[in-house]
Amino acid sequence: MSRCKKGCNSQNRPHGAGHTYQDHYFQLAKKEGYLSRAVYKLMEIQRSYRILSRGMKVLDLGAAPGSWLQFTSKIVGERGYVVGIDIKPIEHNFPPHVSTIQGDMTNQEFVKSIVKQFGVFDVVMSDMAPDTIGNKHADSARSAYLVEQAFELAKRVLKPGGHFIAKIFQGEDTPLLVKAIREHFRKVKIVKPLASRKESKEVYILAMDRTTQSDNVDEN
Ligand SMILES: C[S@@+](CC[C@H](N)C(=O)[O-])C[C@H]1O[C@@H](n2cnc3c(N)ncnc32)[C@H](O)[C@@H]1O
Repeated sequence: MSRCKKGCNSQNRPHGAGHTYQDHYFQLAKKEGYLSRAVYKLMEIQRSYRILSRGMKVLDLGAAPGSWLQFTSKIVGERGYVVGIDIKPIEHNFPPHVSTIQGDMTNQEFVKSIVKQFGVFDVVMSDMAPDTIGNKHADSARSAYLVEQAFELAKRVLKPGGHFIAKIFQGEDTPLLVKAIREHFRKVKIVKPLASRKESKEVYILAMDRTTQSDNVDEN
């Protein structure tokens, strides 16, 4: 597993641990006008791997309250386009090159409508997380299921050369899932941004440069 390369070494880790550490990102998000501390995880990944760039079309799954949308929409700019989906309403007002939709990514009819409506993307990213119940096996299985849903959609809508990022609560299903993802990308890494709490099982699967074609699925 890799820590992000740039800006992610121990010297950049804020002082303190546990909640103090969490508070740092929470406070920073407040100060910088981001809707969630989650944005700093994507920022670190972006600093190290440059997966987002101007003009890209990006699909953000599990997008509420919207900090990844805020950050991504700035990077892709007005010539790019970002679609954010969440099972919860996304209430923030975004610029016109951002569309937000409320829907459940485990509902196949809803997923079908997304494929039909938006076509292909340069990047598919998922920060989806299940409501945790405190049982690490159940939580990681539910998280793996959400990653599977995101990956199934990515196989349908991600352009060759495109990138896929997905948060997962590591567990026994993770290696198999990573193996399946690896078959479609030139490079796959497991990254743990510093902004992700150390004690959390959360990591990000970062799959770069899709090597396969989009799945041909009849959407009618
Ligand atoms: C950690 S939050 C995402 C934070 C977001 N990246 C941001 O920057 O504001 C995880 C999100 O996943 C969403 N989620 C969980 N299950 C989902 C599902 N089946 N379909 C769509 N969204 C889901 C939750 O509603 C929650 O808003």
